[in-house]
Amino acid sequence: MSLLKEPDYGTPAKDGPATVSVEVDGIPVTVPEGTSVMRAAALSGIDIPKLCATDSLEAFGSCRMCLVEIEGKRGYPASCTTPVAEGMKVSTQTSKVDKLRQGVMELYISDHPLDCLTCSANGDCELQDRAGEVGLRQVRFGQERGENHLDLEKDTSNPYFDFNPSKCIVCSRCVRACDEVQGTFALTIEGRGFDSQVSAGGTDFMNSDCVSCGACVQACPTDSLMEKSVVDLGMPNRSVLTTCAYCGVGCSFKAELRGDEVVRMVPYKDGGANEGHSCVKGRFAFGYASHPDRVTSPMIRESNTDEWREVDWDTAISHVAQRMTDIQARHGAGTIGGITSSRCTNEEVYAVQKMVRAAFGNNNVDTCARVCHSPTGYGLKQTFGESAGTQDFKSVAQSDVIMVIGANPTDAHPVFASRMKRRLREGAKLIVVDPRKIDLVRTPHIEAAHHLQLNPGTNVAIVNAMGHVVVTEGLVDRSFVGDRCEDFDAWAEFIAGPENSPEVMEPVTGVPAEELREAARLYATGGNAAIYYGLGVTEHSQGSTMVMGMANLAMATGNIGREGVGVNPLRGQNNVQGSCDMGSFPHELAGYRHVSDDAVREVFENLWERPLVAEPGLRIPNMFDAAIDGTFRGLFVQGEDIAQSDPNIQHVTAALDSLELLVVQDLFINETAKHAHVFLPGTSFLEKDGTFTNAERRINRVRPVMKPQTGKDEWQVACDIAQAMGYPMAYDHPREIMDEIASVTPTFAGVSFDKLDKLGSIQWPCNDDAPEGTPVMHVDSFVRGKGKFMETPFVPTSERSTRKYPLILTTGRILSQYNVGAQTRRTGNVAWHPEDVLEIHPHDAEERGINDGDEVAMSSRIGRTTLRATISERMPSGVVYTTFHHPETGANVVTTENSDWATNCPEYKVTAVQVAPLNPGGKPTTVHDDEPALVE
Ligand code: SF4
Ligand code: SF4
Ligand code: SF4
Ligand code: FES
Repeated sequence: MSLLKEPDYGTPAKDGPATVSVEVDGIPVTVPEGTSVMRAAALSGIDIPKLCATDSLEAFGSCRMCLVEIEGKRGYPASCTTPVAEGMKVSTQTSKVDKLRQGVMELYISDHPLDCLTCSANGDCELQDRAGEVGLRQVRFGQERGENHLDLEKDTSNPYFDFNPSKCIVCSRCVRACDEVQGTFALTIEGRGFDSQVSAGGTDFMNSDCVSCGACVQACPTDSLMEKSVVDLGMPNRSVLTTCAYCGVGCSFKAELRGDEVVRMVPYKDGGANEGHSCVKGRFAFGYASHPDRVTSPMIRESNTDEWREVDWDTAISHVAQRMTDIQARHGAGTIGGITSSRCTNEEVYAVQKMVRAAFGNNNVDTCARVCHSPTGYGLKQTFGESAGTQDFKSVAQSDVIMVIGANPTDAHPVFASRMKRRLREGAKLIVVDPRKIDLVRTPHIEAAHHLQLNPGTNVAIVNAMGHVVVTEGLVDRSFVGDRCEDFDAWAEFIAGPENSPEVMEPVTGVPAEELREAARLYATGGNAAIYYGLGVTEHSQGSTMVMGMANLAMATGNIGREGVGVNPLRGQNNVQGSCDMGSFPHELAGYRHVSDDAVREVFENLWERPLVAEPGLRIPNMFDAAIDGTFRGLFVQGEDIAQSDPNIQHVTAALDSLELLVVQDLFINETAKHAHVFLPGTSFLEKDGTFTNAERRINRVRPVMKPQTGKDEWQVACDIAQAMGYPMAYDHPREIMDEIASVTPTFAGVSFDKLDKLGSIQWPCNDDAPEGTPVMHVDSFVRGKGKFMETPFVPTSERSTRKYPLILTTGRILSQYNVGAQTRRTGNVAWHPEDVLEIHPHDAEERGINDGDEVAMSSRIGRTTLRATISERMPSGVVYTTFHHPETGANVVTTENSDWATNCPEYKVTAVQVAPLNPGGKPTTVHDDEPALVE
């Protein structure tokens, strides 16, 4: 494929029907009202020269390059800022406008270094192109004589891009991209006239508010803002369309290569999830794929304390198959199992769960969604009938009230956060429900109407109190509830009970009753109200209850089934939705159908030609317990670092060390692999061929940019193991796996690689009723028929602060790092977050004699770790916060084994801890801890 260049229409599209007819250079064109002359011209095939305009930004009208003549109009208006009018006749190429454009260009070039041939933007520079287009032949104003900007110093502080002010033409595209697209407002134009200069506010980009999303780099028409990788490697010459492998937003990218080397990742304008935007991870943090730590050959060892021995694939596969078969022969079919990864493609995940069900002959398969969004699957299935979010991301543009609960989108789902922030700047109201003062609470041009700063662990009390207000203040949408829902009366009676009132709940939640009442009224009466939530909802002992509580609230107020509303999980990993869809849970086959359903099992049995077990298999925590008991002995782990990501790490590692056979497939020797007997090298997203499904149920293609560095695709490995265990399982290409998924999964019935290639992406359900997919669910009726109200009594967690552990620890993510950090720690992103830190309120710090930057020890009843303290008022007094990106810190050394009652999702968000300054000279460490706490 050659380099893919998307057309640039100069100004953004306008909504609405095409009703205004104009002529551009004699060519008739009809466009929606409000369309610019420049865009109308581009749509009729005529490119008007431009520098300050680009169709991802509102028109600005500063460069004067796009002048045109309009019949009956005086002067030479800028086509980017002039809207079309019915019957308008535009001339874009008269000798007069040519001359004017040449004059403008001459002025630009007179203050621009003339080093085109050696410039890193050579071949991709709009200034260069425009100079050619306008026919510039001479520059009369000499650079030697007048003042110029040619000696301005380069800012190279950002790890990924440089800013060279001498190449800047002050078009403001970068400033506007930062404002309009990213919503960070990090850049300004300082000075006036000749002295105008782009400024990042601080001393340089690295010390500014910039979040390194790269939108400014993409918008810059010259070499002024340029990726360091382009400077180093040269301009790319081919592109491959693929999907980011970090978070659940699922941004589409053009991987741009020079030869076989990836030079840069450029967000794709037609990407359904991101529409041309990205964050620092997707755009820049791809270098881990070629990091020297990567292991690309299989390795085996007898004991997990032996040295690794490199072997070929055949040896590794037959070793795994033989050992697994042997364990089954000695201990029974149910003593082995597998864990699938939400980092892998749908096809890879499907292959592993099929290997477990058909070749291992049991349902002992689970996925890392167990520890994040399993309550979403359960709660939404119970109430709405489908285990997925209700909206597409675009829908937020129609929201009037946005309620963000237990999520931190600007760090964890940054591209969606930018969309959300745009809508908030347009005037939508924001309610934040979070113990921590996340950025969204107050950020440039945005201020939350309500920040309900609840005590960790009291989500259900909050959502019940909101439901109480809706019911007792007569704010229920009676016609929606009457037409579309069931069991409302019982729920209304329950929720109206005095125990759910904001006043009674105030001492529990810590949220003033009147503020909660105001927030509930706003949600119920403020127009289209949408809920977006994250792991701050699910990772609790009542995670599933809370998901149902939010569904109740949305149904009671009629906020389901159209654009701008809904209940939306912000999924963590790139394919967490997909791995759940593919039948990774021990009780469900693909498409969330229970293994005990004879009819469903029969479909799979006929296709797979194997009898399937009707009883659910082991969940991840049960696997650990059974391993310690000796009743579970062989485990295949696909791309998940359970020894870092799962709670109570001491227990996890004890379980792993009890296994007879632990097989880990991953890119690196991660914490889990340190306990393994077999290491099978995995492929990075740049090598994968398949699909990921994002948080809005959007199936995106992942296309291989390079050949598997390991010599084998991951789905092939699962097939080979199954085959070696005597179960024939083979495909020639991942498209055949998707065809099989479509043939057995009603919600995927219409999905194929061909259709994905044609449409770009598809949101399931995709079938005969919705051949091109379903952006918004539950439109006329719920998937389960009637939406079901569920009673959600609040039960406080057993994890409470005590005299010994007086603080509550809650955890989260930071923008530049990702989950256990296996990838991002191996990229330039370490520049921003070299270690996990503990945020502690000034009052709590002072009480303990902790200063900003001190090493502190944090202990819980489970374990102890040390990390650096940051004094911060983001958390209320009594609550501390950290991230879990670095194994040295091992935040999960202290988290407990409490879990959601319905799904066993761990209660990561509430751990009672004590924090104390580390002894002088003490070293950071993570230790098993049955010892007494640091402070009694
Ligand atoms: S990289 Fe993003 S945040 Fe930083 S200045 Fe550019 S647009 Fe703004
Ligand atoms: S840095 Fe680039 S985008 Fe920004 S004003 Fe200069 S030329 Fe325009
Ligand atoms: S928002 Fe998520 S999917 Fe998009 S670029 Fe960033 S990490 Fe990748
Ligand atoms: S492109 Fe119209 S004024 Fe710059």
